[in-house]
Amino acid sequence: MRCNGWATLVALATLVGLVETAAAEQIAGTWVPQGVNADILAQQPQNVRTLTIREARGGLIGKLVVPTLVGVPVAVEQHGDQIRLVIQMARGMETPLEATLTADHLSITAPGGTSPPAMMRRPSAEELQVLERLAPKKLPIPSMKALPPNGLARTPPMGFSTWNHFQTAIDDRTIRDVADALVATGMRDAGYVHVNIDDGWQGDRDEHGTIHSNAKFPDMKALADYLHGHGLKLGMYTSPGPKSCAGFEGSYGHEEDDARTFAAWGVDYLKYDWCSAGLIYDDAEMPAVYLKMAEAIRATGRPMVFSICQYGRADVWKWGADAGGNLWRTTGDIADQWQIMSTIGFAQEELAPFAAAGHWNDPDMLEVGNGRMTAAEYRTHMSLWALLAAPLIAGHDVRSAAADTVAMLTNHDVIAIDQDPLGRPGRRVVQRGQVEVWTRPLEGKRTAVALFNRGTEAAMIEASFAELGIAGRAGALDVWAQRSLELDGHVAAEVEPHGVVLTRVGRRPGSVSSAAVR
Ligand code: GLA
Repeated sequence: MRCNGWATLVALATLVGLVETAAAEQIAGTWVPQGVNADILAQQPQNVRTLTIREARGGLIGKLVVPTLVGVPVAVEQHGDQIRLVIQMARGMETPLEATLTADHLSITAPGGTSPPAMMRRPSAEELQVLERLAPKKLPIPSMKALPPNGLARTPPMGFSTWNHFQTAIDDRTIRDVADALVATGMRDAGYVHVNIDDGWQGDRDEHGTIHSNAKFPDMKALADYLHGHGLKLGMYTSPGPKSCAGFEGSYGHEEDDARTFAAWGVDYLKYDWCSAGLIYDDAEMPAVYLKMAEAIRATGRPMVFSICQYGRADVWKWGADAGGNLWRTTGDIADQWQIMSTIGFAQEELAPFAAAGHWNDPDMLEVGNGRMTAAEYRTHMSLWALLAAPLIAGHDVRSAAADTVAMLTNHDVIAIDQDPLGRPGRRVVQRGQVEVWTRPLEGKRTAVALFNRGTEAAMIEASFAELGIAGRAGALDVWAQRSLELDGHVAAEVEPHGVVLTRVGRRPGSVSSAAVR
């Protein structure tokens, strides 16, 4: 069942090329892999990648399609004989390819790649018919308008999601055990109240169009009651496409049915993941597709946090709130790796102006506690997410978390920075090589100051009050070390490799104790 859509796309990204001779009108159309035939197309469409290119808006636009599964936009540029294809998977995840068109064959390579070129050809009329039959049709979508706020998520949502650790290996028992552990570890009381079941709960749709959970979730309503009885909330996941990213049943054509089902179960949060909707709609249609589900949820009368997940494409931060979003993903998928986490986290600054109470930038869920980063790297992860006013959705196995993982996730002062009522994300104020200093304005004229060392050697990091926008005498709390500091015109500390020193600076003259700057 698992298709691992992202891995498939990344594999596609290892294709390459150079154009020898081509004319714009020659490349337009549909391309299928050289070795494919009508039988393969009909029997294993999920294994066939096709590229379609059409003329639009005075240029060419493309879509890379795995029939029945996923469609990803491709920018197409032609300069004379040179064709450049850029797969646009997610914000910050663009893969350039080069193509050579010879007669009716397209040879695609990744610049600098070592794999042989991917050879594509034009499909026969019969194969085109199969492709056409497989292609889901566009449904009516509402014209765009601004939905009034739903009043939820006044501070960034906090909770747990199954995806980062469990992926699709989830069931009712696991969710109940996670819920118990959230309570026992103090995570619930620290604010982690949403228990979000991500991909993998879906069963079949019955003849009335009602979706059912699969056998691993015998009674979703009872599970919701269990969570509610423990002071927790239930989050659910679906896609506007026919299939979710892991290949389960999506809400395509059943948006209202599913919103009603979720409301009847007692769902409090819905993550709506683009996935196979890319087969049907262009990115420009995303706002209306999301609005459609937001309206269906509103029509049920049950408040649900609406989590938009389309990997930060189409400038979602500009329309996400209008489409009813309480949070919107701004990136491709995070992983439990320093390189990926830090690249995502440090690339969020320009989006700061778009977050505010009720609607937040979402750089993806936490990896803290999943084991492939050091403690310093996880502190950087938490600190950066707090500076960004990002949702804090834990993604580890809460049932067996080590004490230091729990301590890191429940650090009261870090959470207070994330949840600060001003709701204004931080900005980068200093960048010197691998060193970055960020500040975030906090309620009560206080400022969070983070000294980040992205390098692999320890570094002395110093920022002056002028650089930090702080005036007068100040005291600070080092929130990870839980140590008070007296500041004299600058914040300075030695910072470990890939680490951070996170402080909350108060402007009261002479304030040096932790209580005074709280
Ligand atoms: C996409 C999303 C992930 C997760 C998976 C589930 O990749 O970006 O966060 O929900 O789908 O299949």
